[in-house]
Amino acid sequence: MLVLLEKLCSYGQEHLAQYLKKCNEEEKNSLLAQLQELDFAHLDKLIKEYVVKKPLFTIPDDLAPAPFFPYPAETPEQKEYYKKAEEVGIELLKKGKIGLLTVAGGQGTRLGFDGPKGTYPITPVKKKSLFQYFAEKLTRVSEKYGANLHWFIMTSKINDGATKAFFKENDFFGFPAENIHFFTQGTMPAIGYDGKLLLGGKDTLALSPDGHGGTFLALKKSGSLAMMKELGIEYLSYFQIDNPLVPMADPLFLGLHHLEESEMSSRMLPKTNAKEKLGNFCITKGKLEIIEYSDMPDALAERTNPDGTLSFLAGSPAIHVISCSFVERLTEKGILNLPWHRADKKVPFLDENNNIIKPEEPNAVKLESFIFDALPLAKNPMILEGARSEHFAPTKNPTGVDSVESCREMLSVRDTKRLALAGIRVPENVTVEISPKSVCDEEDAVKVPLKEIHVAEGMFYYE
Ligand code: UTP
Repeated sequence: MLVLLEKLCSYGQEHLAQYLKKCNEEEKNSLLAQLQELDFAHLDKLIKEYVVKKPLFTIPDDLAPAPFFPYPAETPEQKEYYKKAEEVGIELLKKGKIGLLTVAGGQGTRLGFDGPKGTYPITPVKKKSLFQYFAEKLTRVSEKYGANLHWFIMTSKINDGATKAFFKENDFFGFPAENIHFFTQGTMPAIGYDGKLLLGGKDTLALSPDGHGGTFLALKKSGSLAMMKELGIEYLSYFQIDNPLVPMADPLFLGLHHLEESEMSSRMLPKTNAKEKLGNFCITKGKLEIIEYSDMPDALAERTNPDGTLSFLAGSPAIHVISCSFVERLTEKGILNLPWHRADKKVPFLDENNNIIKPEEPNAVKLESFIFDALPLAKNPMILEGARSEHFAPTKNPTGVDSVESCREMLSVRDTKRLALAGIRVPENVTVEISPKSVCDEEDAVKVPLKEIHVAEGMFYYE
């Protein structure tokens, strides 16, 4: 304890040393456990670099748009190559070489929903939760390819218990419980603008998840990576919990990743406008990098090609394939220094009179690392174009852009299109939903017989 108190003082965190002297035994033990996990020398460096002053982002002067495989294929050679890639992807799935990886550790602050985001009732008709929708989709994917697929779900300390309880209460939505693996990401303490770590309560620092870039180390430290190796999993199909439109295991994308010998591949979407809030796929010094929309100067974002299209067209919907060997390589020493990203937040804190203060203005910095910052470290990173209507309906806000509303609308439109493929016509302006246990892609839509269930006025469910 004495050593820790001295350390706190030498790194400018005397307020915590003072607090430890006055709090009760239980509070002290809980706090000590958290403090002992921190690397103060590293944290001090981060505070100086990211908190006390705002890090300046400089745009590399050689920034160029990243090349990508078009989707759908454009030339006969490409069509041939994609056909082969799809066959390879199906083979990988059948052999159980693909693992599903979902990041679900975020705080979902913009959604403002009380509980893990994955428990949000998202589907347009049945209001199935995001977790249920994915679990049912995976049931169909596993059945379709006769594959014993495993689903790895990253939680964080704030939602791990509630997430596991939700799956248990719902009997894992019919998916084999032994094939669902939860692992928990790390945390970072929130830091006040004065460089002091905040207390979030009497027995805890103000902690938050360390960003989806924490996935790599969490996979290693939790033993999930070792488990994947034992199970013979070679590639991870990575997606975010708030995008129910995403195909969980796309044979073409998986097959191309394999054929291109890529360590980390990405789906890209053509941006709808220069300032769309998607990260930009760029090349600098021969490396692939994602430049956040907020860091992209207008002049570059708005630059166009002679045909009028955006030069920096490729935006990131955060859909990747990641090789397990890449995760192993990145984390073999048990550390991974991805860059940190600063977010200014309103963080409730315990003041010197032991009152919880809820600030009205941002008062602290949260540091997060991002999964895409591993791209420059990957060998042969491959990018495949995607289609918004097939791949991306993020649920960030309750209404408006990237919202529950827009997501439900996109799911209904996608399923209406699938019904049309099956020869089923629905009146205009109705909301439809197809059970993902029956149909997981367009091929299914054509082949699988569907039963219509009229749920309510203008609402149809098909299973
Ligand atoms: P977002 O960056 O959109 O964050 O996460 P969020 O927590 O869902 O929502 P806001 O920003 O607080 O409103 C994108 C994906 O990354 C996961 C989220 O669960 C979501 O699937 N994520 C984010 C993590 O798993 N851990 C993190 O630390 C951050």
